[in-house]
Amino acid sequence: EKGGYDYFMLKEIAEQPKAVADTLLGRIDASGSLTLDEVRIPPGVLREVDKVVIVACGTAFHAGLIAKYAIEHWTRIPCEVELASEFRYRDPILDPQTLVIAISQSGETMDTLMALRHAREQGSKVLAICNTNGSTIPRESDAVLYTHAGPEVAVASTKAFLTQLVACYLVALYLGQVRGTKWGDEIRDVIRDLSHISGAVERVLETMEPVRELARTLADKKTVLFLGRHVGYPVALEGALKLKELAYMHAEGFAAGELKHGPIALIEEDLPVVVVVPSPRGRSVIHDKIVSNIQEIRARGARTIVIAEEGDEAVVPYADHLVRIPATPTLLQPLVATVPLQVFACELATARGNEVDQPRNLAKSVTVE
Ligand code: F6R
Repeated sequence: EKGGYDYFMLKEIAEQPKAVADTLLGRIDASGSLTLDEVRIPPGVLREVDKVVIVACGTAFHAGLIAKYAIEHWTRIPCEVELASEFRYRDPILDPQTLVIAISQSGETMDTLMALRHAREQGSKVLAICNTNGSTIPRESDAVLYTHAGPEVAVASTKAFLTQLVACYLVALYLGQVRGTKWGDEIRDVIRDLSHISGAVERVLETMEPVRELARTLADKKTVLFLGRHVGYPVALEGALKLKELAYMHAEGFAAGELKHGPIALIEEDLPVVVVVPSPRGRSVIHDKIVSNIQEIRARGARTIVIAEEGDEAVVPYADHLVRIPATPTLLQPLVATVPLQVFACELATARGNEVDQPRNLAKSVTVE
């Protein structure tokens, strides 16, 4: 049932192009608009929304962090993202104009369920983004947008994460479409780009052998750091989480701009640092800043592992290892940039003799608070 792969995780990483395509299927019509009829919250209610709050745990929380960039950019609605386990204990400000989005692969995560119950008690509408048909979280929500990743067996989430991102982009674009923002043209372009994105995920998967080789050489390291900016920051957090749970290594993700406020003190000779570089097009200011961050850490001895778009030549002089990803619109880059980090963690876990599909101390769905 592992389809010829040694681990479910490898199979699920390989299934990502299909999972992404399946999650888009039937949701973009012939004219290039979104048709999310399943989101039963009437457009009139969506037009009244004045705040979006996303609650989730772990990997799903990282999808939520990325969604914030998309939602705020395309809809201009303020968006907060919070760990479900923190949310209801701080008396959050919620009312009927707040749209709460609960993201969960399993649909059974107790922390997320308790957060959404709290939100509904305050009169907010809850939209679930979920991978498991008929599970508790969608049953208790006002509406659900299912991700079509198919069953995810490995404890570490991979294909579910990519499809959560797709679902978040769809919600952000749909809100933009319903509310009619000044980004109308950009929204149409991005919907078109999104409809081709599974090919880009496929292309990344075809080029992963050097990442595996690199991972094997790092098996005796104690620490790996991850840096990113903009949507690359949550990608860095996700890369670090994958490495912790699979390789049992100390891994931390930082916003690259925070380096000089503390973390740069951690940099020492030969410390592996993975840097997720944003597109040199689009927000080119951030790109230039991250290139100087790479320069700074390399000058202090770090071994730089740079994930950068094809054609980005500025990073070449400072990359000890360069991993190329296809060019995508800025906000969509996490769909391709996360894949090498999944492969990296999986291979390191294997090299360290760890059980890839069933890491120690972890359960696939966490049904206790
Ligand atoms: C990490 C991982 C966990 C889950 C988290 C939420 O690889 O799998 O961090 O993402 O426990 O689970 P769901 O999405 O089922 O609510």
